[in-house]
Amino acid sequence: MTQSIEITRPDDWHVHLRDGPVLRDTVRDISRCFGRAIVMPNLATPVTSVEMASQYRQRIVAQRPPDSSFEPLMTLYLTDRTTRDTVKQASASNLIQAFKLYPAGATTNADAGVRNVESIYPLFEEMATQELPLLIHGEVSDPSVDIFDREAAFIDRHLDHLANSFPELKIVFEHISTTQAVEFMESSPTNVAATITIHHLLYNRNHMLAGGMKSPYYCMPILKGSADQQALIKAATSGSSKYFLGTDSAPHAQSAKEHSGGCAAGAYTAHAAMELYTEVFDAAGALDKLEGFASHFGPSFYGLPRNRDTITLEKKSWLVSDRLSFGDQQLVPIRSGQEIHWSMSDQP
Ligand code: DOR
Ligand code: ZN
Repeated sequence: MTQSIEITRPDDWHVHLRDGPVLRDTVRDISRCFGRAIVMPNLATPVTSVEMASQYRQRIVAQRPPDSSFEPLMTLYLTDRTTRDTVKQASASNLIQAFKLYPAGATTNADAGVRNVESIYPLFEEMATQELPLLIHGEVSDPSVDIFDREAAFIDRHLDHLANSFPELKIVFEHISTTQAVEFMESSPTNVAATITIHHLLYNRNHMLAGGMKSPYYCMPILKGSADQQALIKAATSGSSKYFLGTDSAPHAQSAKEHSGGCAAGAYTAHAAMELYTEVFDAAGALDKLEGFASHFGPSFYGLPRNRDTITLEKKSWLVSDRLSFGDQQLVPIRSGQEIHWSMSDQP
């Protein structure tokens, strides 16, 4: 008999849907299994106002497949020019779920991010008052810091102090990638949670680098060593409500990843997100911990209800296409041309 598991419909607490013609593809993929998703605001022109987020939401909703009730949850991008008034407007709008902090230059479309984290402490105070969570890309962008050490440096230089200074502020340490981040989380108070991606659970830097650079794996935070990967698997499958699902699925056209000028950072996983997470939990002997991580702990942290319906995953292999359409271009997804050992059952 095929092994299967039924869980409350999950949500994705961190995704990049982009904009324009590619929305058709990204929204279709993410809404296959997730009820809701926290949509990142790092568009080419960052989403910095309630009005911009409202229009972006409409463009996303317009691409939902027929009968889909997928709900995009909108965020605003913090810059050095964000004001307390913007935070108040976000709160009053009932549209904005959170603010996203990108240290300037840390990743894709982060040039308009924050140059000095400490200089926007008044905004964090206002977010705490308005009960709006702060989502953090936790890496320094200081070019003198080794790319593999940027997350650990962010904890030491900024996050430790920030989390201690605002005990009332809900903070999500996004896409954690190191043993140091797990150690930080283990001693952090309950106002701090962390998302964990599929790619940081499934892979380490050997997958990306041994035998030649493989661009689909290149992302920020960059994949670390095997010990870090094991620490993340242990955290995600521990049953602790501090950790929940955030794919950080971040599409880039193949032409932007395989480019003489460099490689765009981001791994695309929305085409097979729950199937891949299930593989990780299965391999760790922790299928009983999947529902908490994927479907319960995120809504609890954000103060939202759980989804009411369920999805079913079956232990049945399928082959991922070599390339997926991405607007008028194509992209190379994670597991391109290879098998995935779990499948989503057809919905009733
Ligand atoms: O690899 C990444 N890609 N990390 C991020 O933080 C941003 C993302 C993107 O937008 O492509
Ligand atoms: Zn991201």
